[in-house]
Formats: sequence, structure tokens, C-alpha cells
Amino acid sequence: MTIPVIAIDGPSASGKGTVAARVAATLGFHYLDSGALYRLTALAALEEEISWDDEAGLAELAAELPVRFDGDRVFLFGEDAGDDIRAEAIGMGASKIAAYPAVRAALLERQRAFRETPGLVTDGRDMGSVVFPDATLKIFLTASAGERAQRRYKQLIDKGESANLQQIQEDIEARDARDAARPVAPLKQEPDAQRLDTTVLSIDQAVETVLSWYQSLC
Ligand code: C5P
Repeated sequence: MTIPVIAIDGPSASGKGTVAARVAATLGFHYLDSGALYRLTALAALEEEISWDDEAGLAELAAELPVRFDGDRVFLFGEDAGDDIRAEAIGMGASKIAAYPAVRAALLERQRAFRETPGLVTDGRDMGSVVFPDATLKIFLTASAGERAQRRYKQLIDKGESANLQQIQEDIEARDARDAARPVAPLKQEPDAQRLDTTVLSIDQAVETVLSWYQSLC
């Protein structure tokens, strides 16, 4: 029996990570945040002094990266890297290095290894198109750029950090444009993916929708 996969792709700050993690917890499935692998590679490169322009060096690093996921925590070289990889600059770096075919190839099998019983929920940009093309359910989860900027702004303010809404929206749009324009595994809705626009949906409503779509297939 093939192991079920729910692949949730979409633009940055769309809430797909939160929705994917909640769906995984409800179903008792494994969860893979594929963006974390690109972020960890960008962060490790800084620590190892490998330039974000060095495709071959980055690919070698990505293949060997000593990462460990434990629930929603992530460790790099044995250290908790959860906060460091969420920095805006690391998100931009991840987006830059994710455009290199050699980096994507180095991370491909590592991502596929997360497909274990009883099932996997994963989120990213190419989970349904490249990494798990035979996924049981493919979703393109999105929201307007204005709404995504508002959510990111609120997260930062709630954490006590300073934030500029206009700047956040510009950064989100710049990252989306780079992710959509790259020749390898660009961000786009696949023809066999169901679109879920969360602009006016709560997290609970988005989670319920994904669960009901999945249950209708079982
Ligand atoms: O999803 P997240 O914002 O954490 O991803 C960071 C960056 O990693 C994205 O902007 C994208 O460029 C890249 N990425 C990717 N393919 C994935 C997941 C993330 O190219 N499957």
C-alpha cells in the first residue's frame, strides 16, 4: 500500500505551515516543513562561510546538513535553530539558494525520506509538482499579499519586535516574484491541485477544509 501524502504548496506567509502541522497532528501523520530545509541550508552556509553564490558548495552542504526535526523544533549541528531560521534575511537567502538546481537535487531524496507510515503532510513550493508527484491530495494554499503581510506583521508585533507593514508586504512580494520566476520548480498552482484561498478563512476553517477534502478521498 502506498503511504498517503498531503502536499500543501503556496506562497510565503500564506499560513500553509500552520495548517499543514495541524492537519498532520489531527491525522497522526508525520510533518515535513520543506522550507525549513532551504532555510537551514542558508543559515548553515553563513555559519560555514560558504557564499550564497556558490551553487556547488551549497549543494554539498545541503546533502550533508546535520539537521534533526523533533516535533515542531529543528536542530542544526545539534543546536536549536528554530528562531534563527525564521529571520527575514534567512528567508530571502533560502529563496535565493532555492533557485539553484544542484541545491534542489541535493534536498530531493532527503525530503522523500520523510514519507513514512501512517502518512505525511508536507508544505512548500514543489511538494505536489516535484517531490511527491503522486501525492494523495495536492493543495495550493494562498491568500492575498495584503492579508499575508498583515498576518506576518501581527506575528512580529505579538513577539514584541518592531515591524513595518509596508516593508513586510514588499518583502513578501519580492520573495513570491523570485519563487515564481525561477526556471526550476517555480511556485505555481499545478493543474491537479485544489486551490484553498484563506484570505477570509480562519486557521480552523482552513484545517477543516483540508481534512474534509482528504476524508472524501478515503
Ligand atoms: O516556506 P518558507 O517561506 O519557509 O520557504 C523559504 C524559501 O525556501 C521560499 O521562499 C522558497 O524559495 C524556498 N522553498 C522552495 N521549495 C520548497 C520550500 C521552500 O523553493 N519546497
